[in-house]
Amino acid sequence: MHVDVLLGLQWGDEGKGKVVDYLAEQYNVVARFQGGPNAGHTLILNNGEKFVLHTIPSGIFLNNCLNVVGNGVVIDPITFRMEVQKLEKAGVDVTHRLVIARKAHLILPTHKMLDAASEASKGQDKIGSTLKGIGPAYMDKTGRNGLRVGDIESPDFLKKYNTLRDKHFQLLRIYGEHHNEVPNEQEWMDAIAFLKQLPFVDAEYLVDEAMHQGKTILAEGAQGSMLDVDHGTYPFVTSSNTITAGVCTGLGVAPQRVKEVIGISKAYCTRVGGGPFPTELFDADGEELRKIGNEFGATTGRPRRCGWIDIPALKYTIMLNGVTQLAITKVDVLNTFTKIKACVAYKINGVITDRVPYDIVDAVIEPVYEEFPGWNCSLDGCKSKADLPEALQNYLQFLEWHLKTRITMLSAGPERDKLILL
Ligand code: GDP
Ligand code: IMO
Ligand code: MG
Repeated sequence: MHVDVLLGLQWGDEGKGKVVDYLAEQYNVVARFQGGPNAGHTLILNNGEKFVLHTIPSGIFLNNCLNVVGNGVVIDPITFRMEVQKLEKAGVDVTHRLVIARKAHLILPTHKMLDAASEASKGQDKIGSTLKGIGPAYMDKTGRNGLRVGDIESPDFLKKYNTLRDKHFQLLRIYGEHHNEVPNEQEWMDAIAFLKQLPFVDAEYLVDEAMHQGKTILAEGAQGSMLDVDHGTYPFVTSSNTITAGVCTGLGVAPQRVKEVIGISKAYCTRVGGGPFPTELFDADGEELRKIGNEFGATTGRPRRCGWIDIPALKYTIMLNGVTQLAITKVDVLNTFTKIKACVAYKINGVITDRVPYDIVDAVIEPVYEEFPGWNCSLDGCKSKADLPEALQNYLQFLEWHLKTRITMLSAGPERDKLILL
């Protein structure tokens, strides 16, 4: 009778896909509740094959797991079709494992054009959007102009589409762009026809029924809590609520139904795109993290900015999400570091604080670090807490003490089996 949640506590790419893939066996339903093709969740299957999922939940590889694309998600039919076809080619029976909420909103080709125009107009201050049309699609949702999956079933769909597209043409004129046709409109329409082959559902009822039947449900977050539209590093954020609260609106689940909240953090920190990043490194350590951690975006291929773990930011996102347990990922990336640092506080205008300030974008933040000796060995043979090198155990104990939350999982490699339960 409840929903568990798994979400990122940093700026995204914490390894959510890998951990959901590992946990999915324990769940009957895996559901995405927000975001869209800006997400890139990487899974490495047992045969070593790599998949990057953008809109489809990470439970899709399991036979008896139902995957739900919730109402809070925005769907680009073209990306969606590509994802489905790739999975089908790999032998995954997508049509029997995937359902789409009628209330999920559609990303139009003109949303992507607006995204690009808006970013270009910002110049140096650009957000660093993935340019997947996310912001404009959510703007149309809250502006009450959006086109929803359920509209595809309406005889007026084409009329509704044309109205919105023409409105977008008008908006594009504000940016000095004059269009009266969309280059890939037919491709988009074909993808809409493809989408129709999948079951459209009233997902809030489906999830409620699943809860009543005693089924286990996992809500899979996208992006990270520091990219939340309300509580992230605004305006350098995405356009949805990435925190636990987003599960309630994005799936139609009442708050008291949410039980375990698994928060994921890397053993260090990364960010892709613009915006503040107090612990960002511009030195050899940052380069090492990027190189060893292979820190390049799963969706855009952009190099990720790298830095040490940021405890004030983690305390903040643990608070916002009501995190009940932590999963620390990419611990293996630190294997060769002789010294590891963790930011325990910020120094702003000479004042030490462990709070994330309102003006994080403009404030000059000097991180206050504690330093630890590295463990300098491989973690390959480690299967339990007792197997972990002492220096790593100390680092984890230090994190638990500061974060007041237990660490239940450790990921020490991208593969499924490189997960240590603590
Ligand atoms: P997500 O968006 O949170 O699902 O994360 P991404 O897939 O965008 O980025 C995480 C990257 O790290 C992917 O390339 C994963 O294959 C990889 N990864 C996940 N967990 C680990 C880990 O414990 N160690 C290492 N070295 N790589 C990992
Ligand atoms: P996953 O689910 C990392 C970032 C973009 C940009 C900002 C706004 O893989 O963790 P948008 O496309 O939403 O307009 O971009 O948010 N961003 C992500 N960064 N991981 C993601 O998803 C992201 N989704 C968006 O880089 O800075
Ligand atoms: Mg990602």
